[in-house]
Amino acid sequence: MTREERLQWWNEARFGMFIHWGLYASLAGEWKGEKIRGIGEWIMYKAKIPIPEYESLAKGFNPVTFDAEAWAEVARQAGMKYVVITAKHHDGFCMFDSSSNPYNIVKQTPFKRDPMKELAAACNKRGIKMCFYYSQAQDWHAPGGAGHWDEIGPLGTHRSYTRPPEDFQKYLDAVVKPNLTELLTNYGPIGLIWFDTPVAITPEQSRSLCDLVHHHQPACLVSGRVGHDVGDYGSLGDNVHPVGKVKGAWETPATLNDTWGFKADDHNWKSLDCLLELLVNCASKGVNYLLNVGPTAEGVIPQPSVELLKQIGAWLERNGEAVYGTVASPFLVDPGWGRVTCKGETLYLLIKQWPAGELKLYGLRNKVRSARVIGVPEAKVGMRQEGDLLALSLPVKAPEKLFSVVAVTVDGVPEAEQLIIQDGAAALYLPLVLGEIEGKVTVSQERGTERWKDMGNRASWRIRINTPGEYEVVVVTRANKNHPEWFGNHDVQVSIDGAHVTGTVGVRDLVPSPDDGAIFQCPRSRVGRIRIDNAGDHTLRVQAVRMDPTAERGLTLVAIELTLATEKT
Ligand code: GLC
Repeated sequence: MTREERLQWWNEARFGMFIHWGLYASLAGEWKGEKIRGIGEWIMYKAKIPIPEYESLAKGFNPVTFDAEAWAEVARQAGMKYVVITAKHHDGFCMFDSSSNPYNIVKQTPFKRDPMKELAAACNKRGIKMCFYYSQAQDWHAPGGAGHWDEIGPLGTHRSYTRPPEDFQKYLDAVVKPNLTELLTNYGPIGLIWFDTPVAITPEQSRSLCDLVHHHQPACLVSGRVGHDVGDYGSLGDNVHPVGKVKGAWETPATLNDTWGFKADDHNWKSLDCLLELLVNCASKGVNYLLNVGPTAEGVIPQPSVELLKQIGAWLERNGEAVYGTVASPFLVDPGWGRVTCKGETLYLLIKQWPAGELKLYGLRNKVRSARVIGVPEAKVGMRQEGDLLALSLPVKAPEKLFSVVAVTVDGVPEAEQLIIQDGAAALYLPLVLGEIEGKVTVSQERGTERWKDMGNRASWRIRINTPGEYEVVVVTRANKNHPEWFGNHDVQVSIDGAHVTGTVGVRDLVPSPDDGAIFQCPRSRVGRIRIDNAGDHTLRVQAVRMDPTAERGLTLVAIELTLATEKT
């Protein structure tokens, strides 16, 4: 079976449920009266809990209110098409019955049931794909696992991530492979195995895990975090949302609050508004959204999670055709009013800011045939197509409070101009991930650039200007508030055609950053004004003309922003 065949259901699905559930839930973020910072499932590590003490949590783990039917129903109502649950997390405890690994829920807890069996049945009944998370490398409990307590370390008790390679191989053979075989043979068809944190693993070892999965279940997908790019699809970082096109199959694992595993005092729930935006944004980049719940030790999914998921599901119930089975938007950048997805000859416009006048879409190459407002079949949509502009006259009132959808059918497969087009008075935003890079620079969806240390490096963007005039140029960089070495004092030159402007960027005390508690901040440095004399297509280039050698990360460029200051008269 080919990777493409395996990915078929997954590409259709677009939205899944992540479940982090294990012994850590019974601590709920607290150890011996002390609140432990960080994500809940890491408490064994963070609070330095010795193995025997952590093991004894199993004696009190009795989730009698666990109801697989209820969990699967929450997923179904949310419109989630697959469920990925932690069969074994980094704490090494198996949440399934295992004859190869006695450290498991059936053998060690008064509960004695196998929740994975029950959940698999409940998911199957609803046509939801059952999938397992399995921590293949980090195991703080099994000897040989990465991060295992090293009792004889020179500093006393500490975790060792540099296992002797032969110990790690022994752990893979004695624990991981038998466990995986059980998961792949005792629970019916499995949609995917979600491996994680591939520390200390070699390319051969990652490949051998892929082979084992595909040997038992040729249709079962392997997540990218198996390591060394040998999985069936890629995993963006935790809560990392794509800002530009991504090539290939990707997924974003994301939280509803700040933790994955249950923490009693984490009430930092995202709003429905924010969650829908993240879901829609993922879909517009062809990325799957894997959204997490962290049930309690009693087996209950926290009520705020259930409520939020229900509301997402209600929106999907009405507008799901714009998400399921769609592919990424053909446009290089998102329109200011929302996002775009695509299916066959239809473009779905997911509109957050319903227009007062016409809705404008720039850069579509196809001829438009028809347009309809989802949920308002009787609505008439006026259409005007001139050059690269499509303008739609929509009903005055938006059918949805958050994202309303207009489906536009075109001749052929939708195609768009691959440049950044000026949209009215809105600023032109040029993210580095959409630029052409010359030189040695690391670019990432989440971070912009790092290691831009060479004055020979260049980035450039193709832009289409509709209004000639003087433009204000702002350079956005990225910094870690707690690390002065992330800032810097660099001079950057921005040029368009013959004109250029130079300014200093990223200096810590010069650029006001919002103090919103976030560790990462994106200071915006104004570098000056630049003239663009003619409407039409231009190339904007940026380079460093002086670099601060003390800035450890080099120039951490995220984007350039152009705002029209005065129109040419
Ligand atoms: C991380 C964490 C882990 C969590 C996962 C979810 O890599 O180590 O605790 O399960 O992300 O994506």
